[in-house]
Amino acid sequence: MPSFYITTAIDYANGSPHLGHAYEKVLTDVIARFRRQMGDRVHFLTGVDEHGQKVQASAKRQGVAPQQFVDEVSAEFRALLPRLNIANDDFIRTTEPRHKQVVRAVLQQLFDKGEIYQAEYTGFYSTRQEQFLQEKDRLPDGTWPELFGEVTEIVESNYFFKLRQYQAWLVEFYERNPDFIFPSFRQKQVLEFLKEPLNDLCISRPKERLEWGIPLPFDEGYVTYVWFDALLNYYSAVADRPDLWREVHHVIGKDILVPPHAVYWPIMLHAAGLSLPKGIIAHGWWLQRGAKMSKSTGIALNPLDLVAEFGADAFRYFLMREMNVGQDSDFTREQFLVRYNSELANNLGNLVNRTLNMTTRFAGGVLPAAEGAEELEQHLHALWAKTRDEFIPLCEGHQFHTALERAMFFLTETNAYIEKRAPWKLGKSAEARDQALLRTSLATMAEALRLAVALIQHVTPDTTGKINAVLGYTPGAVWRDELNWGARLNGAKVAPALVLFPRPAPPAKP
Ligand code: MSP
Repeated sequence: MPSFYITTAIDYANGSPHLGHAYEKVLTDVIARFRRQMGDRVHFLTGVDEHGQKVQASAKRQGVAPQQFVDEVSAEFRALLPRLNIANDDFIRTTEPRHKQVVRAVLQQLFDKGEIYQAEYTGFYSTRQEQFLQEKDRLPDGTWPELFGEVTEIVESNYFFKLRQYQAWLVEFYERNPDFIFPSFRQKQVLEFLKEPLNDLCISRPKERLEWGIPLPFDEGYVTYVWFDALLNYYSAVADRPDLWREVHHVIGKDILVPPHAVYWPIMLHAAGLSLPKGIIAHGWWLQRGAKMSKSTGIALNPLDLVAEFGADAFRYFLMREMNVGQDSDFTREQFLVRYNSELANNLGNLVNRTLNMTTRFAGGVLPAAEGAEELEQHLHALWAKTRDEFIPLCEGHQFHTALERAMFFLTETNAYIEKRAPWKLGKSAEARDQALLRTSLATMAEALRLAVALIQHVTPDTTGKINAVLGYTPGAVWRDELNWGARLNGAKVAPALVLFPRPAPPAKP
């Protein structure tokens, strides 16, 4: 059984989770579930990034100790996962001993190998923001923006990791592995970035300036730069599992690709003698009215509100159906409602209702066997074969939005089949041919429903489970075998009704 290890970025534990964080978890979960269905032994890691300036500053603003602060915030991030039907195997916090030990061991190893050196660092420092500034932070007239307060030039001794000496190696790596980053246009951007000479990376912060971090093992007067610490989470979580490490894939947002994941990370691993990831998926952003959703812009939609209103599966379905992985997408409630109503409630929900209803009415609640296949049935069988055969490669290529569109089309056509067959008319006829067609139509709609929900079960796991339950069906262990049109539901006893996607309450009148 092949291993497949997949990770999300670890979220900064300095505020509540928003839709952007939720999306990344859902996307990664959908990939993880898909790989499990395909027969891989999957290990799915997610977690929180608890050190650094941002966290220290947020804790200070609230007047609590950083540890207490991250304990609270991280609990919130963790609690989100089951609410989104996320089936992760591990959750890592960078304040855990298992992580700190690995970070310190890697730092010591790099230091001993001469990959890290100490030097004077000169830069402009904003005491108000507690950060070093860059030339690009200056206003056009050369002064510093008001938000930085007083800016002073300071000279500070720090530790540096020798990035620059690996630049040529990294370029060659990307040239040899053109599909390392998905989507591929992002890999081209990385190569563009690598046309400029790299600076060595400052990996330390003096304790007087930042206390909240992992002390350097070779100089306790400093803590580790937060990115150097955070990136290593992917390795520290499985440091004793080389089988998994060899198969690691990262899912991250486009904002943290260059330089951290596409430049620092491969060089860190290479310098430490560790193998490189199999690939990186860089997704786009959820925007609201064109602006990135984030804590700092204050336009951060709370995913739990949507889940409370519509359920986790509807939320997952929307995110995967709407977003072309790698591109940006605008989130609007209107668009959410359009997909919820037309695709989930009308298309899928109606098929469920009709199947249960008519089986109860015309067959005493027991699914009959199909008796032959006329043109209408044959059309649906052929469409199914095409849908299934296209769906799997689309998911393998992260084209979930198109894959779901195909699945929806199959449901639309199944509903159209029911309209054409009109079992309610056949039910009124006493003729043997009509009765046979009635049985065939009931078997056909139920089988189409079973297949469609099996196909999308990595996106809507709860819904698929509920539908199988009302169809009186227990799926077999091998997912691909479940996708063959057959007679698995013959004789199944169905439930009379299931409310899956209730109409949302109209907005309250002001
Ligand atoms: N802590 C770092 C990551 C360290 S990984 C070793 C960080 N944290 S974050 O909380 O700011 O972002 C976590 C993830 O959420 C990132 O992959 C980021 O791209 C993603 N998103 C944050 N806002 C987003 C949207 N509005 N839309 C989609 N995802 C975005 O960066």
